[in-house]
Amino acid sequence: MKVLAINGSPRPNRNTASLMKLVIESAKEETSDVNAMWCNLNDMTYSGCQSCLACKEPGAKSCVRKDSLAFVLDVMLASQAWVIGTPVYMGHVSGQLKLLLDRMYGFMGPKGENRIPAGKKVVLAITQGAGEEYYRDLEAQARTFLTRRGLETRVIHASNMRVAAPAPEFGQALKEQAIALGKWLVTAP
Ligand SMILES: Cc1cc2nc3c(=O)[nH]c(=O)nc-3n(C[C@H](O)[C@H](O)[C@H](O)COP(=O)(O)O)c2cc1C
Repeated sequence: MKVLAINGSPRPNRNTASLMKLVIESAKEETSDVNAMWCNLNDMTYSGCQSCLACKEPGAKSCVRKDSLAFVLDVMLASQAWVIGTPVYMGHVSGQLKLLLDRMYGFMGPKGENRIPAGKKVVLAITQGAGEEYYRDLEAQARTFLTRRGLETRVIHASNMRVAAPAPEFGQALKEQAIALGKWLVTAP
């Protein structure tokens, strides 16, 4: 099965990516059938939605903009599961990820119909510097957005992850949660 990892952090190997990798590695251990593709949004050149509404024209299947995000959007539709990662930046998802979320507008047809094939699972991995009591609203908002798009969504949220720490350190409970989510991601309902 195709699993797409979308890293919204500009850092390819730090807190967010490390948390995402725990999930992906667990999925791979669960089944040898996993074909994982990793995408660092920060390495790509793309814009946000231009509100051109070309995605609502007859025959359109998705966003029509042909920058490097077009391939990622295609793979999102073709894959069975996504692992999306973001650091909290100024109280929100990263700008890199927000542009992609806006481009998902093309996954809605002219009458609001959902163009995302049913049955996809998503793990959203959020990391933040602040303590665990912060940004639960961000988590809830992101979960609601993805769920409303018909995606079965689970969230893993790592707190106290300092941007200047020499290396990410996850507690045992968080590691176990990541492993469980990796298994869940690739297990048939
Ligand atoms: C530009 C910027 C803004 C940030 N804003 C927040 C914030 O609003 N709240 C928070 O808890 N952490 C904030 N952080 C800390 C990061 O979310 C946190 O360290 C995260 O784990 C970094 O992920 P990374 O290692 O994948 O880059 C910010 C870091 C940066 C660089």
